[in-house]
Amino acid sequence: MKLLILHGPNLNLLGLRQPDIYGIRRFEDYLPELKNAFPEVELEYFQSNHEGVLIDQLHQIGWEMQGILFNAGAYTHTSLALADAISAIPAPVLEIHISNVQAREPIRHHSMIASACVGSITGLGFDSYRLGIQYFIWNQGTR
Ligand code: DQA
Repeated sequence: MKLLILHGPNLNLLGLRQPDIYGIRRFEDYLPELKNAFPEVELEYFQSNHEGVLIDQLHQIGWEMQGILFNAGAYTHTSLALADAISAIPAPVLEIHISNVQAREPIRHHSMIASACVGSITGLGFDSYRLGIQYFIWNQGTR
């Protein structure tokens, strides 16, 4: 099973950025642990700070992945173009957030991409990714 973790803007700074909200761990340090936890999954990772690059990536891998775990960062709250790209591809996309966006500023309460996604996992720190992968494994072949 091939899954992609797709990261949007500023998520390259995890571990450095607002550690009170996002923790002190770099995602690059967590990724090997995640891969070890799911040896049956071919787990790929891609990050970009640019909306168009994220759209290109969705177009490129949208027919090849069995699932995409997408943390779109702040584009979550603004990007109709990303919602359209998610709707355009057959791969199921799961919306992921590290922080509990519902407990933060009102502008973060709305997701532009949620309606195009199969669901969302929010506020569980890096465990949001672990649970997301588990979801795709449990539902393998059912979509
Ligand atoms: C985030 C939440 C967004 O509101 C924010 O802009 C991010 C990270 C999260 O993972 O908690 O960049 O997606």
